[in-house]
Amino acid sequence: MSVTTALTIKSQEPLNAGTPVATLGQDFITPSEQFFIRSHGNIPAVNPASYHLTVDGLVDQPLSLTLAELQARFTPVEVTATLQCAGNRRAELHTIKPINGEVQWDIDGISTGVWTGFRLADLLGEAGLRLQSDTNHVLFDGLDTVEREGHSFGYGGSIPLVKALNPEVLLAYKLNGQPLTAEHGFPLRVVVPGYIGARSVKWLNHIRVAEQPSTNFFQTKAYKLFPPQVSAAEADWLKAEALGAVRINSVITNPLPDAVLPANQPFTIEGYAIGAENTSVASVEVSLDEGQAWQSTELVTPCRDPWTWQLWKITLTLPPGNYGLVVRAADSANNRQPADFGAVWNFKGYMNNAWQRININVRMPTA
Ligand code: MTE
Repeated sequence: MSVTTALTIKSQEPLNAGTPVATLGQDFITPSEQFFIRSHGNIPAVNPASYHLTVDGLVDQPLSLTLAELQARFTPVEVTATLQCAGNRRAELHTIKPINGEVQWDIDGISTGVWTGFRLADLLGEAGLRLQSDTNHVLFDGLDTVEREGHSFGYGGSIPLVKALNPEVLLAYKLNGQPLTAEHGFPLRVVVPGYIGARSVKWLNHIRVAEQPSTNFFQTKAYKLFPPQVSAAEADWLKAEALGAVRINSVITNPLPDAVLPANQPFTIEGYAIGAENTSVASVEVSLDEGQAWQSTELVTPCRDPWTWQLWKITLTLPPGNYGLVVRAADSANNRQPADFGAVWNFKGYMNNAWQRININVRMPTA
């Protein structure tokens, strides 16, 4: 396994690692070796020579194709898209009220890549997708093995068919121009821009079109959102809605919390922001007084398409003092972030998009 030390390792088995915070707000495209890794089981070593992808369910022409056949048959497409784990920023929620037994993602469960592959819609068309109830689902299974509740099974999940047919949804075999590494799903993975990363199933070997969503654990008993007052013991998993589309969010990557910065000299505050599904980031504002007054920041990234984060920055010169720095964003559909963690806390620690708050100390440089 080739994991560079640049990643922040959260756990070795399963392998979970965050994008280094030092470069998070700098690179619009995350270098592949710094792309965060989220896995729930082993990293399977898939033999490309014997690999097949099977497509079945509500299709007239079930398929079983090798990687070479898939690459030869379907037009290659490139999509630049951010993947974000639903647990990104869980660590902040954990400080409000503990969330145990989950990966403690800081602001580092997110990365942006250039994905090369082919459209899921093209594959489903070739398989003779039966037309077509709007309420159908496309189910994905991976080749890894996960242990949960005393059982071993493969990771899986699903997305609504209406999303699956959108042109941005890919079956990808390259990240940033290179074949996927084992950690990121070699030889083939789903990439669902605008959705939580959990639906972008890695080591994909089976696609099924069905009337119901996947019954896989990760669709039915994880990646569901409960209100703040519901405890794990009370959770009715069947009734809760499975997470799909991402939400507006913004984060300060530099300075770090409790940083000491020079007074009366310019310094830069920077970070990333991402809009809800199908939107782009319209504005990012920072406050120096815990949310009383706000200043606009500059959006610095070249690309305004809806599937990616935007990087932002603002240069300030401040007198000495302790500042409660806050960031918030709005997107092109005028979605806005909730101000408080209380409204978003949930026992699994998903979808934290409350205003991020950090303290900084601005001091006169010592001689
Ligand atoms: N696919 C499989 N087969 N197994 C997994 O554990 N993790 C999911 C998704 N696809 C997972 C998977 C989650 S929760 C996320 S956030 C993304 O993969 C992370 O993709 P990455 O590791 O390439 O960043």
